[in-house]
Amino acid sequence: MRFAALVRRDAQRHVPGALPATPDPDDRRRMTTDPPPATAPDPATHQPDAPQAGTRQADPRKMGLRWRLRAATGPLHAEADALGSAHDLGAPAGHAAFLRAHARALPGLEAAIGAALGDAAWLRWQERRRLPALQADLAALGEPAPAPLPATLPGADAEAEALGAAYVLEGSRLGNAMLRRGLPETAPAAYLAHQPGAEAGGWPGFLAGLEAALPDQARWPAAEAGARTAFETFLAALRTEA
Ligand code: HEM
Repeated sequence: MRFAALVRRDAQRHVPGALPATPDPDDRRRMTTDPPPATAPDPATHQPDAPQAGTRQADPRKMGLRWRLRAATGPLHAEADALGSAHDLGAPAGHAAFLRAHARALPGLEAAIGAALGDAAWLRWQERRRLPALQADLAALGEPAPAPLPATLPGADAEAEALGAAYVLEGSRLGNAMLRRGLPETAPAAYLAHQPGAEAGGWPGFLAGLEAALPDQARWPAAEAGARTAFETFLAALRTEA
């Protein structure tokens, strides 16, 4: 099912992760059954609330780094959504192809992020890493791990680029939580169900740390470059298993 339709129908019920301090009112909104406010971004295009001439101001809640990354990667996400949703997770072969695609992208990206940000205590990167869960699911299906793709971040601002890439990996949990609903009860689900420990704060905790780690807007283009590299790595992997 395509992203836009899922967001409209289901996003309010399926954003995973514990809600600690709530850094993002939009995420709080999705945890409720309230209808989206009139200023909500278009989930199909991922464009944040851009000011529209003569009609309204930009929503100040949607001017942080997360919204910049979301806008910069919207088209890439739409493509990842289409390719990632195409597998029939109800059948072992479709589930295996889905896991193989992610197993091509994840190792290089997790390693690059860990190398650049491994010391950042707030991130709790070891808890967030999902490669062991992914490998366990592949093994349970009797599937050998595929060759991982290289994932080289551009390198000019390693911290900002890695944070942008981490945004993509953490965001992909939102789609995974939805896809998990298509798995048979007996299917291995360590990867799709994976969550870091409660102290990591789930998606809201990650977003709060992201904004705090990169207050200087001059570094945001580097974060965008890292996010695009991460999406492109996923897209290359997804195309291999399409
Ligand atoms: C490798 C594939 C994917 C990657 C890397 C990825 C990445 C992301 C990222 C970075 C976000 C955060 C966007 C934000 O800032 O709000 C996100 C959100 C989301 N994704 Fe994906 N995604 C992938 C596949 C999917 C698939 C297949 C689905 C549908 C089943 C999906 C559904 C969603 C939903 C519903 C959200 C929440 C949007 C919102 O909060 O408004 N994603 N994803």
